[in-house]
Amino acid sequence: MTAPAHRPWLDRTLPVAERVALLRAAMTLEEKVGQLVQVANPDPVRDADALAAGAFGTCIVASGEHAGNVRDAGTQAEAVNALQRAAVESSRLGVPLVVARDVIHGHRTVFPIPLGQAASFDADLVRACARVAAREATADGVRWTFAPMLDVAQDPRWGRVAESWGEDAWLGAHLGAAAVEGFQGADDAGPRGDGTFAADALAACAKHYVGYGLAQGGRDYAEVDVGPRTLQNRHLRPFRAAVDAGVATVMSAFHTLDTVPMTAHEGLLRAHLKGDLGFAGPVVSDWDAVGELVRHGVAHDTREAASLALRAGVDVDMVTGAYGGHLADLVRSGEVPEELVDDAVGRVLALKVRLGLLDDPFTDPARAARVHLTTEHRALARRAAASAVVLLRDDDGVLPLLAPDGTGAPARVHVTGPFATARAELFGTWTLDGRGEDAVPIADAVRERLAGTEVTVDDGRWPDAALVAAREADVVLACVGEHPMRSGEANSVTSLELPPGQVEQLEALARVSRRLVVVVVTGRPLALGRLAHLGDALALVPHPGVEGGHGVVDVLTGDVPASGRLPSSIPWVTGQVPLHHDHLPTGRPLDPGGPVGRYRDHQDGPMYPFGFGLGYAPVEYGALELSSSRLEREGRVAARVRVANRGDRPTVETVQLYARARRASVSRPVSELVGVRRVELAPGDERVVSFEVDHGLLAHRDAVGHTCHEGGRFVLTAGPHAGAGSSAELDVVPAPHGRTAEPGEVPTHSSDR
Ligand code: GLC
Repeated sequence: MTAPAHRPWLDRTLPVAERVALLRAAMTLEEKVGQLVQVANPDPVRDADALAAGAFGTCIVASGEHAGNVRDAGTQAEAVNALQRAAVESSRLGVPLVVARDVIHGHRTVFPIPLGQAASFDADLVRACARVAAREATADGVRWTFAPMLDVAQDPRWGRVAESWGEDAWLGAHLGAAAVEGFQGADDAGPRGDGTFAADALAACAKHYVGYGLAQGGRDYAEVDVGPRTLQNRHLRPFRAAVDAGVATVMSAFHTLDTVPMTAHEGLLRAHLKGDLGFAGPVVSDWDAVGELVRHGVAHDTREAASLALRAGVDVDMVTGAYGGHLADLVRSGEVPEELVDDAVGRVLALKVRLGLLDDPFTDPARAARVHLTTEHRALARRAAASAVVLLRDDDGVLPLLAPDGTGAPARVHVTGPFATARAELFGTWTLDGRGEDAVPIADAVRERLAGTEVTVDDGRWPDAALVAAREADVVLACVGEHPMRSGEANSVTSLELPPGQVEQLEALARVSRRLVVVVVTGRPLALGRLAHLGDALALVPHPGVEGGHGVVDVLTGDVPASGRLPSSIPWVTGQVPLHHDHLPTGRPLDPGGPVGRYRDHQDGPMYPFGFGLGYAPVEYGALELSSSRLEREGRVAARVRVANRGDRPTVETVQLYARARRASVSRPVSELVGVRRVELAPGDERVVSFEVDHGLLAHRDAVGHTCHEGGRFVLTAGPHAGAGSSAELDVVPAPHGRTAEPGEVPTHSSDR
């Protein structure tokens, strides 16, 4: 299709950059500024004048500032098409919009919350879930999602740990990059050689840049204080991985980092993200975060806030209206160079060209009915839900409920607790387009699977009645845990105990039940110390999504192996957090059970460590063997460990490889996850699992993000979780280009610039 002479940017044969330059050159200053404005829930009639003027370039469909826990009317292709038609036909240059939405863990098919997907330790699964979410959301006209969230979350009091990949930077980097590829379609339809996306690709957004998971006290939006090395090695790592995976956009965070609001942080946004890391897409502010610079006390008014944010590197102003209200004037007055506006506009227009919106801004309304909640999508959701189930304790082999041949079902099972019959509550936070009626409750799945069993159910409203039913049953499934409203944005808690009353009810059930299986459905790691000896089995399930009932029962019956592993450490009590496996040794390292403790009122260490989870078969680990005890410059060493299924059931073993530097120029963590291998083992199977170790795997970053290949003695450990495994020592020769960070070095892009 040849482009009309007056609109040469419509020529599809031209490279993306050329089309962007042609369109930007045709724009007035006001039209350019309009591309940097994001509004919420526009209407083609109510906002006809703004659309005709090109006063905004993107929009978000959301219920408001806390969209994660408030349902709205959702998006439909017809409504989006009407908006696009108004934008394209009424504006001077006919530039379409990008419609954005928080598609965090599914659209109509709701997958487990990211913390639950993280429990799978399975990047392929995460990628597949994101791919389905993209197919479904784009069918409703959404082309930009504000996901994946990449905040490394080490304080479960913070409600947004639900949206995270857990406490570990390596896991967050790998799963976050997989989510980017899934959303954007790296496999089949993603960035081709020319950087364009297919029609079912969602532009992903790496958020919240950077360090949001360190909010003081776990209090959402609170200040963050972190040194540059920890920032580089832990909190920036998932963002580097997302940029390397081609993430189309980034969202700056609400908080201050070392007193500088991230929305105005030129050192980390323009200098580091766009400069050092070469990120070429648009940075969008968080909701009204540009306006919040006034409340942070760094801007007199939204005019100054607009100037600060744009200079810092925020390209799109989400809903404040500061850019739309002031940028043109700031440019004309010479306070803001027009080059900065042009750079930002170029990033937004490139996104639109890459998404194919200039070529076809409309969505086929018939697609949604074909792609939403298909049998295949449900099957994936069911597999993801089962992978989110982390079996923590199983005394006397109470689980699984069925024999390997499917026989042996208990005669009577009582299912109780708030999650026995829950539907939409299984979805978890940030579920905007899931429908409760689509969900499969746990009790329904029990009835469906244990057809010959007498199944009684109560939802926990009558604790006394539940006791009567429980004492008649062979097995009681107590399905307790957190309502989704207790996690997600603006939902921090001071106590990680189960919600009020649930422990007491479980204690009562334990007194009358022959066998009690406790299933804790949650949006965060909880302090489970009071459940340590309560009942016969304990499983933790981050909100598992639309197929949550099936997934939980598939695991409890043994139809599917218990394979979930903890993406975050489980504390005994709230007072222990923040608690994470990759802590520094300190000058007085903890000796579990030894005299040097930290707390006078409780034992130290997690109740269950990062990476922990039981299966239904004992897995034996052999000794970790290295192909060489010395890693030469530019060399590689194979680390191999034999694992064997010594049981009578199939299992999935998540073999984890950890590294520890014996000595470095700075103090390094006692345990750094550097590799994961998920292996399916039939009864009697033995497998040698191999990891390739090179300098990059063992390097760390200095204060400005340079990679340090310092070499030295490392201890590698392969095992089932952060607290166990077999080890071997490796001498690493420093790499020639290795840069050794000098303690006290003054970084050029420090967090305080
Ligand atoms: C919210 C969240 C962010 C979300 C955005 C749009 O406040 O912080 O994660 O993407 O606003 O809803």
